Amino acid sequence: MSDTPLIQINNLDKSYTNNNKTVQVLNNINFDIKKGETIAILGQSGCGKSTLLNIIGGFITANYGNVYFDGEEVIRPGRKSVMLFQNYGLLPWRSVMKNVELGLEGINLTSKQRRERALRYLNMVGLEDKTDLFPRQLSGGMQQRVAIARALAIEPKLLLMDEPFGALDTFNRYNLQDELLKIQEKAETTIVLVTHDIDEAIYLSDRVMVMSKEPGEIQRAVKIEIGKPRDRSGDDFQYYRKLILNEFHLSGTKPPIEYNI
Ligand SMILES: Nc1ncnc2c1ncn2[C@@H]1O[C@H](COP(=O)(O)OP(=O)(O)OP(=O)(O)O)[C@@H](O)[C@H]1O
Ligand SMILES: [Mg+2]
Repeated sequence: MSDTPLIQINNLDKSYTNNNKTVQVLNNINFDIKKGETIAILGQSGCGKSTLLNIIGGFITANYGNVYFDGEEVIRPGRKSVMLFQNYGLLPWRSVMKNVELGLEGINLTSKQRRERALRYLNMVGLEDKTDLFPRQLSGGMQQRVAIARALAIEPKLLLMDEPFGALDTFNRYNLQDELLKIQEKAETTIVLVTHDIDEAIYLSDRVMVMSKEPGEIQRAVKIEIGKPRDRSGDDFQYYRKLILNEFHLSGTKPPIEYNI
């Protein structure tokens, strides 16, 4: 992991107006993300995680503050980053294969190379035998895996993931988390992962941004200092679980050692 920040997030504020009522969703969000780092944004439903991720990706603009990617201000979605949306974003009229190939159409590949790359990632998510089906013929978890394959196939510099494993069963979730770790290590991809799942945040990320609600703020940044791959049942893993549960007031006891920010 390099020390130079790939992403700089400066003083972000965001509010929405619904029925003449303005609600501040994000308040003064500030942090940097290093190249090759995996950041988890963890918080309760409605605290502003998707809003923050969408601002980082250039899909929505903040009311105040800015985001820099590789030193350039983000004002619209760019080619170097890929967003894996919470609602999968599959095109219903395209087959599984064609959905995964979609992201590769702007890249300089022959149709054979495109197909091979799409198949490699479909294989990774265990859907190599479903390539000719359409999204409506798949379960929710399968649709989510197609969306994951499509995002990964682009092999982006920055991968923005909004609850990517939410609809998957435990086995698929654990498998895909491990695949993501391998891809991240091999390609040095920088990842911002939005999740509700404390274990997932600890398993995958280098730093967990714990968000508070109304307004959404970074309540605490927790650096996870355990080598990867991590043992979900290990003592150090439990230590971080407890520390983060404490942040959400979900644990009765204080963690045994000091916070590591
Ligand atoms: N386009 C919009 N217009 C108006 N209000 C919005 C809009 N998008 C989000 N909000 C509001 O902003 C708040 C934060 O929404 P956001 O989707 O960022 O939350 P979240 O943390 O991703 O929640 P979840 O975990 O349920 O996905 C919510 O109160 C939501 O109602
Ligand atoms: Mg969300």
